[in-house]
Amino acid sequence: MTKLKYTTVIKGHYILKGNFSGPTPELVELIEDVLKKIKNKTEFNFNKEVLNIVVESNEDETFAYEVFMQIKNKLRDTLKTKKIGLKNITVDSAELKIPAEDLSLERIKDIKIEYVSDIKFENNNVILIINNLDEWFLKNQFLRNIPNVFFEKIEKLKEAGKKEFWELIWTSKNKCDCRFTLDPTVEALKKGWLKKYPMQGVYFFTPKLTAIFRAIENLILDEILNKLEFKEAIFPKQIPFEIWKKTGHLTGVPAEVFYLSPAKTRDISIFDDINDIIKITNTIPIEKYPSRLREPIGGYCYAQCPPFYWFFEKEIIPENVLPIKWYDKSGPSFRWESGGLHGFERLNEFHRIELVWLDSIEGVISIRNKLMECYKHIFDNILKLEWRMARVTPWYYAQSGKITATELIKEKGTIDYESYLPYRGPRESSEWLEFQNISIHGDKFVKTFKIKCNKDVELWTGCSGIGLERWAVTIISQYGMDLEQWPSNFQPYLKEAKQIIETKLITWP
Ligand code: SER
Ligand code: ZN
Repeated sequence: MTKLKYTTVIKGHYILKGNFSGPTPELVELIEDVLKKIKNKTEFNFNKEVLNIVVESNEDETFAYEVFMQIKNKLRDTLKTKKIGLKNITVDSAELKIPAEDLSLERIKDIKIEYVSDIKFENNNVILIINNLDEWFLKNQFLRNIPNVFFEKIEKLKEAGKKEFWELIWTSKNKCDCRFTLDPTVEALKKGWLKKYPMQGVYFFTPKLTAIFRAIENLILDEILNKLEFKEAIFPKQIPFEIWKKTGHLTGVPAEVFYLSPAKTRDISIFDDINDIIKITNTIPIEKYPSRLREPIGGYCYAQCPPFYWFFEKEIIPENVLPIKWYDKSGPSFRWESGGLHGFERLNEFHRIELVWLDSIEGVISIRNKLMECYKHIFDNILKLEWRMARVTPWYYAQSGKITATELIKEKGTIDYESYLPYRGPRESSEWLEFQNISIHGDKFVKTFKIKCNKDVELWTGCSGIGLERWAVTIISQYGMDLEQWPSNFQPYLKEAKQIIETKLITWP
């Protein structure tokens, strides 16, 4: 990150007591002498027994607060000789002066920053004013982080309205014959392959559709996971905030994650009144729940791979166990998607096989390339899909709130795999479905989680998320609901799915 240029101004005061009888010329001279020895720009004035001090510091000089305290110590020693004491040493406010450059009041007027009480323009500087400063805030030098937050918010404003980065890199030779042009969700609902569940973006998948997911999984097992020797692991699905703080999710997608709040105590009696209401009125007093729940202890799995980086946090990996290639398919991911009607290609609870690998730089790139070959083989020769690849904003930026960031080095970043869905309209103008992705994160997670190798090997990581529902929607959209019509090379995997007779009830589907 480039160092930001700004000036910190601390305005504070000391109260003089003891032998103090007003700002005599002798006293003023003493104070001037003390301040002269300070490298920083300083000012002072008196208001009765209050000595107001202003200290400036550029970001690369001593922090203004430290200087403010140094002045206090020096003054205390000097004034002692005159039997004058100092008390109530208080910082009244801090100002951060940032050169305005291409900023204007118009551009920044909507910016609000926690701890910053006012933002002003003065002599070609933006001035961030911070009142109510306590020792904890000053001693930890948290002021230094405020300009970064300010510029991040400016970047966000610039990004608003911009399109996400998207660069087509490959389109399949296969073209879908569009023998089927219906919406898979509508047709699957009609056939009773799934049932809308009373939770936003959640479906119940019947054995028929589940067997299709398993067929996809088995294909992936044969053609990718076993071939490339990925080992299965079970990644936890409850994510502590500390992990999300490191991956960026905590501040990047706080409005999209599901939070985990258990009850305040295991003592059921805290629910007595709620239970009575339910039993007496047969209604559920939802509004009474929050006061019985704890503050969130974390959130539900969103990106699936973060626990992998936690596993290796601060560990030293012997070179001979590299590469580490693990995958997890043990449970769903949860995202609070925008409301409205979506098919089962866009869910609040979805299933994904997540592949994660850790190796030297060359190793990580080589694994990514091998995976891409396997994917290509599956989509071109087995599933015979119409698909394409695009370089997009890396997910680890997008999910930490940086919409338009791209990786400058070709090897790093995220590639999205998209499929053509005939029911959405012409291939040229309709929205294709992002059904999986593959990424190299460079040293992003290795650095944040302090993962090291015992030899002098620079480590990188990569991950790839395979969306089961989205693969199914892709295949159904291009081939229809009749499994016999699906590509011949996929037929061996479909034996079980084909045998499953759809459940028909008198009242459903
Ligand atoms: N973890 C990656 C993502 O969330 C791949 O699944 O997109
Ligand atoms: Zn991942």
